[in-house]
Amino acid sequence: MSGELSFFRPARAGPVIVRGEGASLWDASGRRFVDLGASHGVGNLGCSSPEVVRAIQRQAAELLYLGTGYDVPVRREFLERLVGLLPPALHRVFLSNSGTEAVEAAIKFARSATGRPKVVAAMRGFHGRTYGALSATWRKEFREPFEPLVPGFVHVPFNDVDALTAAVDETTALVLLEPVQGEGGVHVTTPEFLAAARARTSATGALLAFDEVQTGMGRTGRMFAFERWGVEPDLLVLAKSLAGGFPIGATVTTENVRARFRGSHHSTFGGNPMACAAGVAALDVTVRDRLWERAERLGEYARERLGHLPPEKVREVRGQGLLLGVELRERVTPLLERLEERGFLALPAGSTVLRLLPPLVILEDDLRAGLEAIEEVVGRG
Ligand SMILES: Cc1ncc(COP(=O)(O)O)c(C=O)c1O
Repeated sequence: MSGELSFFRPARAGPVIVRGEGASLWDASGRRFVDLGASHGVGNLGCSSPEVVRAIQRQAAELLYLGTGYDVPVRREFLERLVGLLPPALHRVFLSNSGTEAVEAAIKFARSATGRPKVVAAMRGFHGRTYGALSATWRKEFREPFEPLVPGFVHVPFNDVDALTAAVDETTALVLLEPVQGEGGVHVTTPEFLAAARARTSATGALLAFDEVQTGMGRTGRMFAFERWGVEPDLLVLAKSLAGGFPIGATVTTENVRARFRGSHHSTFGGNPMACAAGVAALDVTVRDRLWERAERLGEYARERLGHLPPEKVREVRGQGLLLGVELRERVTPLLERLEERGFLALPAGSTVLRLLPPLVILEDDLRAGLEAIEEVVGRG
């Protein structure tokens, strides 16, 4: 029904979901589906975490909204929780409402702080759909209809140290990278690539930003994916699951960047009390249940099993923690449909990659059943 009213029709008619709990989703007829996609990573805690729901209800009754000109205790509490999870240098936070806004802020902060124009991003990278973030995004289909985009952006092949080193120079404001590319097909950085990005940006006076909108908050087996490689950015971009499903974006940076920033930037709803209350609850659950460890353990199990899929059907299995990609030798859409028939909802990444990013709270039995269903549909072809 909403298909006729929305600007865009859904790509295809999936089930109409009315309720969710953990990795379980129910349609109006009461049929249960297992969520293997967590709404592109928003649902690390499932799509209706009781702790987050309670925090939102409590906050709504107390203070639904108040402008950023006022100091709101719950915002302070959220910022303290968030920076408490990060390296000490990353302790200046700008809050917004989505991933693309958080990327925009990173680009503006970097250009303003360095006084330089150039932004270096990676081929196959995805950073959002507003003009700055889209200019950093790689895929032609996303970019072309909206050109001209913002000038000054260049793309280098992901994991190509020489190309990155050559592209970053004294005119570069920012190098913007996903440690694990999600939309682009689940490609994991090499340690050398991140190390080279850090070394070259430091040497030239450029800034390094990691876009962890999809990889953050435990998804890849660490609280933040960059921890695995021991490379610290100047800017960290977060969104999706940061507030347990409530809209939020965060751009975290250093005092040095903040001090060099000239100009202004603002978001009316950024850091609103509801998002902050949801964020406190989401971070508390993630830390209490050490969900990154669960992602690491379940991810290893899933990868091991997916590794046994027939090589005549599967080119490669990639990923980190519970962000996994199965590159097929055929188109992924028919497989997704067959999974849905069996009650499992997964996602594509491009036309041939089956992307798995279930809620980190998924029950082991549900994950096992999901993997069995994948074995069945891939195996049968
Ligand atoms: C890595 C990355 N950056 C940015 C974005 C944009 O986030 P949003 O859709 O909240 O604007 C996404 C969304 O998929 C993403 O995966």
